[in-house]
Amino acid sequence: MQFQPVLDEIVATLRPELGQAGHVANYIPALARVPAGQFGIALRTCDGDEAHAGDSTTPFSIQSISKLFTLTLGMRELGETLWERIGREPSGNPFNSLVQLEAEHGIPRNPFINAGAIAVADRLVSLFDAKAEILSLLSSLCGDPVDFDEEVAASEAATGFRNAALANFMKSFGRIDNDVGTVLDMYFHHCAIRMSCLQLARAAGFLCRDGVHPYTGAQILSERQARRVNALMLTCGTYDAAGEFAFRIGLPCKSGVGGGIVAVVPDHLTLCVWSPALEPSGSSLLGIKALELFTAKTGLSIF
Ligand code: DON
Repeated sequence: MQFQPVLDEIVATLRPELGQAGHVANYIPALARVPAGQFGIALRTCDGDEAHAGDSTTPFSIQSISKLFTLTLGMRELGETLWERIGREPSGNPFNSLVQLEAEHGIPRNPFINAGAIAVADRLVSLFDAKAEILSLLSSLCGDPVDFDEEVAASEAATGFRNAALANFMKSFGRIDNDVGTVLDMYFHHCAIRMSCLQLARAAGFLCRDGVHPYTGAQILSERQARRVNALMLTCGTYDAAGEFAFRIGLPCKSGVGGGIVAVVPDHLTLCVWSPALEPSGSSLLGIKALELFTAKTGLSIF
């Protein structure tokens, strides 16, 4: 299939809507300054063909998309023991919600809500220099040096009162081993990684190739683990909108409040869209429209 004309058409269709609806995340001050009228889309097939259009090489704050890659590190390093303190159920609640944690004794519903990602960060901090490891994994996966945006990380640390509450609450249940400040520093930094659509489409490539590195052929996760990451993306990757995403798009997706969404078509390709203005559940408004157009035009879906 020729993907470049499909992506060009999507950019042309959505251009009149750029900056017209949705709101850039403003609860992280450094993100509130990002111009809303940007849109990029990129894909990479399992065979290594690439197509991209719009602002596809502009770096943006990947935010919760980073949770895909910290989960990958956790699954790779810890295997089944990762799941001792993290569930695998959709939360049906906003990504920063506190309500389920008390009833569920400090065990977050899944690794993609903030509490779950903080729990993963804690396990990683116990193992190694977690900030260096996540940068090293992402740089290797996309073939470019990847770094943190220190301004965004500092902005999150200065205003992340809910995340601090989640971490302290889990600590009170004995579910966090390390110093809360150290764990949050890892969490805020991985959320503040900057990458472009093209880099993310490349970096997620192992998820459509049964866990195999997009360039080197190394096994990043086992085939079974990679399929499980896709299952979690479908059920939990877009928070309380996961059902709506499955209904409208029909692909495993992971979104971030920077406006990026990564989607996987298993055994075919990985795709990343980015546009900063969000719909209320925290995913990119035009990103969702772009993914709907993509699946409608190509007929690609897991269903
Ligand atoms: O902790 C936060 O709230 C942000 N660093 C990440 C939230 C996020 O991206 C949720 N995704 N839609």
